Amino acid sequence: MTNGLPAKLKPAARVTGQRQDVWSIINEAAAASPQQPIVNMGQGFFGYNPPDFIINAAKAALDKVDCNQYSPTKGRPRLKKAIADAYSPFWGRQLNPDTEVTITTGANEGMLSAFMAFIEPGDEVILFEPFFDQYISNIEMPGGKIVYVPLHPPKDGPTTTSSAANWAIDFDELEKAITPKTKMIVLNTPRRLLLFLRLIRLGIPPYPLPSLLLTIKTDNPVGKVFSKEELQKIGDLCVKHEIIILSDEVYDRLYYVPFTRVATLSPEIERLTLTVGSAGKNFYATGWRVGWLMGPAPLIQYVSAAHTRICYSSVSPLQEACAVGFEQAEGEGFWDQTVRDMRGKIARFVAVFDELGLPYSDPEGGYFVMVNMQKVQVPADYPFPPHVASRPRDFKLAWFMIQEIGVAAIPPTEFYTDANAWIAEDYMRFAVCKEDDVLEAAKERLRGLKKYIK
Ligand SMILES: Cc1ncc(COP(=O)(O)O)c(C=O)c1O
Repeated sequence: MTNGLPAKLKPAARVTGQRQDVWSIINEAAAASPQQPIVNMGQGFFGYNPPDFIINAAKAALDKVDCNQYSPTKGRPRLKKAIADAYSPFWGRQLNPDTEVTITTGANEGMLSAFMAFIEPGDEVILFEPFFDQYISNIEMPGGKIVYVPLHPPKDGPTTTSSAANWAIDFDELEKAITPKTKMIVLNTPRRLLLFLRLIRLGIPPYPLPSLLLTIKTDNPVGKVFSKEELQKIGDLCVKHEIIILSDEVYDRLYYVPFTRVATLSPEIERLTLTVGSAGKNFYATGWRVGWLMGPAPLIQYVSAAHTRICYSSVSPLQEACAVGFEQAEGEGFWDQTVRDMRGKIARFVAVFDELGLPYSDPEGGYFVMVNMQKVQVPADYPFPPHVASRPRDFKLAWFMIQEIGVAAIPPTEFYTDANAWIAEDYMRFAVCKEDDVLEAAKERLRGLKKYIK
C-alpha cells in the first residue's frame, strides 16, 4: 500500500517524491493558529481588488454570450492584440498578435507549456538559484534535468558597498554548465538587490560576506535585476550554443529601477527568447489565472500546441477583462499608480524593522521584503511538529511567528537546493501587497518580537 492505495494504483513518482510544499505548510499553520485572525503576509496575493475599470470589464464580459464559452486555444484575439500593442513600443516594432503572442492560464501554466513544448527526457535546463519553486516541477514533469548556476560577489568583495550591480554571474561557470543537452535557460527579472547595501549600512553582516552575498543573488524571492550587460552576455552565450531563453518577467510593471527586457537586445537573442507575463501580477488579480508568452512564431506555435493539450483554452471572461486592462491602463495612469502605491506600502511596512533593529531588503522590484531574523531567538524547548522540526531554522521561525505573534510569512529556504538552504535560514519573506490597515496590524504584532530579540 502507498498512502492508502494498493501497489498497482500507486501514484506517479512526479507527485509522490515531493515533500509538503511551503504554501501548504504555512497556510495550514495559519488557519490552525490560536492567533486569529492571522495577519497573512506570506503568499504573494493581493489584499485588494483590481481597479474599477478592470473589475467593471470583467462584470460586463459575463453578460456577453461568447465570453462564457470556449476561447480560441491561443487566446482571445482582443487580448492578444491588446498585449501586442502594449509591448510593441518596448520591442521597437509591431508584434504580431496572431503568431507572436499566446495566452495561458497564468504565467505558471505558460511556463509549463514552454517546458512541455521543448524539453525531452534528459534535456538540461539552467536555473539560477534561488528559484521560484514552481520552475522545478514544471521542468521535471517532462523529464528535464535542472543545472543550477549561482551568482558570485564582486571581486573587490566586502569593502565594495556602492555597486550592487557588480554582483555577477561567473560567465565561465555559466558556460561550463552548458552541455550539448542544454536546451533552455530560465531568467527571472525584475527582482530586488539592495539587501546587501542595507545590511552593510546597519553593520549587521549575518555571515562572512561572501556567503551573505550568495543569499541575495537572484530571483524571486530575494532577487536581482539583471543588468543590460549581463543579459547581453547571457544572450550571446545562448546564441552561441543555441539555447532557448525563458524570461519570466511577471513583475515587469513593478520595478523601481530601470530594467531591460532580454528579448529586445538583438534580433539573434529575440529569435531564442520566450517572454512570460502575468495579468494576475499586473492587475492585482492572481486568482484570474491569465498569463501569456511572447516570442518568435516558430517557438510560440509549440507553446500554444502544448497549452492546447494541457488545458485547451484559458478562462474567457477574464481574458476579455484583461484586454480592457491593457487597452486602458496607460490612459488611466494605472502603471504609474501601481509603482507609487507599492513603494508606499514597502516604506510603511519596513519602518517596523527599523524600530526593531532587524535588517531588511529594500526591493528594486516586486513586492517582497526579506528580513534577517538572526537576532530573533526562538525558545530552545519550543514544541515544533515533526514536519517543521525537520526543516531549516526559517521554517521554525515562520511556525513560531504564526503561533506566538499571529503573522504569517514565507521561509525562503524553500527556494534553495538542500545544499544551499543554510544561506537563507535566518530570513523571512513578507509580501507587502496588502491593504495599509493589514500592514499596520502586522507591524503592531511584529513589535511582539521585541522580547525575543537578543
Ligand atoms: C517569479 C514568478 N513567476 C511566475 C509566477 C506565477 O504567476 P501566475 O500567477 O501568473 O501563474 C509567480 C507567482 O508568484 C512568480 O513569483
